[in-house]
Parts: sequence; C-alpha cells; structure tokens
Amino acid sequence: MNSDLKIYVAGHRGMVGSAIVRHLQAKGFFNIVTRTHAELDLCNQQAVAEFFQKEKPDQVFMAAAKVGGIYVNNKYPADFIYENLMVQTNVIHQAFMVGVKKLLFLGSSCIYPRMAPQPMSEEALLTGKLESTNEPYAISKIAGIKLCESYNRQYGQSHGVDYRSVMPTNLYGPGDNYHPESSHVIPALIRRFHEAKGKNLPDVVIWGTGTPMREFLYVDDMAAASLFIMELDKSIYDQHTKPMQNHINIGFGSDITIKELAQVISETVGYQGKITFDSTKPDGAPRKLMNSERLKGMGWRAKINLVDGLVSTYQDFLDQINQN
Ligand SMILES: NC(=O)c1ccc[n+]([C@@H]2O[C@H](COP(=O)([O-])OP(=O)(O)OC[C@H]3O[C@@H](n4cnc5c(N)ncnc54)[C@H](OP(=O)(O)O)[C@@H]3O)[C@@H](O)[C@H]2O)c1
Repeated sequence: MNSDLKIYVAGHRGMVGSAIVRHLQAKGFFNIVTRTHAELDLCNQQAVAEFFQKEKPDQVFMAAAKVGGIYVNNKYPADFIYENLMVQTNVIHQAFMVGVKKLLFLGSSCIYPRMAPQPMSEEALLTGKLESTNEPYAISKIAGIKLCESYNRQYGQSHGVDYRSVMPTNLYGPGDNYHPESSHVIPALIRRFHEAKGKNLPDVVIWGTGTPMREFLYVDDMAAASLFIMELDKSIYDQHTKPMQNHINIGFGSDITIKELAQVISETVGYQGKITFDSTKPDGAPRKLMNSERLKGMGWRAKINLVDGLVSTYQDFLDQINQN
C-alpha cells in the first residue's frame, strides 16, 4: 500500500481501532482520517454520507462497533443489534458511494454457532444456532460480513470493490475496557485481582469450574494481521476465500483454561491470595478455539505471547485508573 493513501479508521479511539492507527503510523501511513463518536455518530446516515463526501478516503478500516461482554449484551439487546446494523451499513454503503475500493470489516469469533465443531473454521458460519445471550450482536455482525460479500459480488467486476472481513478471536491489550459490568474476561479479571490485592482479600472467587478453554490474541497482533490482510494481493485473498464465504479467522493458534488464565493474571498483578471456583455458576461453552489455518496458509502468525501481552495490559489498566 502507498504511504500517502488516505485511510479512514472508524472507531480509532477503541481498543482495536487505536492499535490499527498505531500500526499504520509505524508503517509510515500519514494520511489517516479519524472522527470521534462525538464528532460523527455513525448511526446517523446523513452525517456519515456528508463525512464520506467531504473526505473521500481511499481505504476504510471498520473498527467502530458497540461491543461488550455477556452482561451488557443480554441487558441491552436492542442497542446491540440496532447500533451495529446502523453503524456498519452506513459506513460500508457510504464508502461504496464515494468509490472506496478497499475496506476491512471486523466480525468476531462469537458469531459462529454455539455448537460449532472445534477448532472453528470459516465454514462454520451460519451452520447452526447462535449463542442466545449475544444473538442480536451476532446477527448484526453476520449482516456486516454479508454486506461486504454482496458489494463484492455485485460491484467487484464493475467498480473494483474489494471489501474483506476478518473474524478475530477474543482480544485483549492496551485500550481495553475495564468496566466491571461491560468488560470481557481478561480486563474483568485484571480489575478483580488488582482490587483484591489492594484490599488484601484472602481469595478471589471466579464463576464456573475454571475448565472451559478460551483463545486470546493481543490487540497489536490483531492490528498487524488486519494490515497484512488489507495488503494481500487480491489473487491470493481470492484463492483462500469464496465469494459467499469471504472472511478470514484471526486467532492466536492455541487456547488455555480459565483456571490457567486466572493464574497468569494473578501472577501478573502480584496477587498473593487463593483463587477458587464457584462451580454452581454457569461455565459457557467448554471450548472456543479458532481454526486459523487459512491465515497461516497466507503466511501470518501471532507474535505476542499471553504472559508478555498481560504485562502491557496490566500497565495500561494502571495508567487508566491513575488518569481517573
Ligand atoms: N474486543 C474484542 O475482544 C473483540 C473480539 C473480536 C472482535 N472484535 C471486534 O473489533 C471491533 C472493535 O472492537 P473494540 O474491542 O476495539 O471495541 P471498543 O474498544 O469498544 O471500540 C469501539 C469504538 O467504536 C466507537 N463507536 C461505537 N459506536 C459508534 C457510533 N455510533 N459512532 C461513532 N463511533 C462509534 C466507540 O466510540 P465510543 O466509545 O465513544 O462509543 C469506540 O471508539 C468490533 O467490531 C468488535 O466486534 C473485538
């Protein structure tokens, strides 16, 4: 990609969007366009149309979305489906209207069917029932992937449209959301162990048996993979995808149990107490691992291991709480 390309990163203040901006800048891209949520509400079709008419970017990284853990997904299902459908539809369509040829859309591993065979391959999409707690979010994200595929199929030949989608596994890293209600498992555990350390609590109780296995990818690896996929030659991307199955999984490649994760986080934070598990509480799916063979086949691998990634994430948490 030429370093003078005009690139719009939607959601640049989010965890993934900010990592993508960092990576673009590190690679020498200087013409990066951004807007905060307050400056541009992506749910507002008119405002998004005016923004694209004014800026006319060459490429778009679509990292804006309403994101959250099970609790908020379950509590605010209308917000999750409405906002995500609006935001992505506005951005993808208005990008097309001003002639954007290349766009990267971010899906998520949690939109694969609940009982998808493990590790989950790209073919698993739309083959079974979704997890009910995040079904509205998943439906909106699936619609985003299908929007990209449909614009490619209808306008690929005539307009050179090449909109790609990626399915990241669980992400963590600097810029994460550590809010006690809306956070994902890693930032939630960082906060809990940090608070337990501060209060000298004898133990931290974690929901479930600790046996479920999960995969985690550091957000800078995710950003690196996003750029790698955007820069891939179209012929290579097409070789590894199909017109109606156009997404690529981005995973770390291996998973760990929640118990092991809790152990590593407690050590990173320096918590000395006990970790216990409340097995009367639900576990969720026993295993959620992505099959990232397609991406590996294209030549990409994750670089940052969990121990190192957690050290920077804990530092980011400390920086965030010190700022507030
Ligand atoms: N985090 C993960 O583990 C994970 C895993 C897989 C996939 N992903 C995908 O990665 C993408 C980014 O996730 P993230 O973790 O970086 O989320 P995030 O930190 O919450 O960032 C999302 C960004 O989008 C912005 N945004 C949301 N609604 C908007 C609107 N109506 N108008 C303008 N801006 C809006 C947010 O701004 P405000 O905060 O101001 O609203 C925020 O800056 C999402 O598509 C998500 O599905 C994330």
